[in-house]
Amino acid sequence: MTLDFKKILALGSAIIVVAVAAYFIMDTGGSGFADADNPAQVALGKQLYAESCASCHGASLEGQKNWRQPLAEGGLPAPPHDQSGHTWHHPDKLLFDYTQRGGQAIAPKGFKSVLPPYN
Ligand code: HEC
Repeated sequence: MTLDFKKILALGSAIIVVAVAAYFIMDTGGSGFADADNPAQVALGKQLYAESCASCHGASLEGQKNWRQPLAEGGLPAPPHDQSGHTWHHPDKLLFDYTQRGGQAIAPKGFKSVLPPYN
């Protein structure tokens, strides 16, 4: 399959939504694979995202203001999950692990993560 850069960017936000859905499906005995072509997974991901993630990452995946700038108390603001961020760069496995185990479990030593675990 050949994808041009624009298509890859457009897929970014779909991937995070599907990743959320697949994580919860995995948790309830489903296949565990993110499938952006599965409308049921995408719909579930949207709902779970709105309930559990939008408070920090934004209702439209836009993230928090100045998300690249470290906070005075340590850590970073929540990054966008749309094409302006870098979530779409990361493989599904890393996104699952980061979300399931929480940022602190995965982050490099010395980094203060704000992302809570969802397990
Ligand atoms: C309390 C605020 C908060 C909530 C709620 C939250 N996040 Fe985050 N998230 C963060 C912050 C802050 C970061 C930046 C890195 C860090 O602190 O570990 C982050 C980073 C991430 C990353 C890594 C992004 C990247 O580009 O590397 C992923 C993936 C992620 N969050 C997914 C989720 C998902 C999925 C949910 C909902 C199930 C969620 N987050 C809920 C604050 C939050």
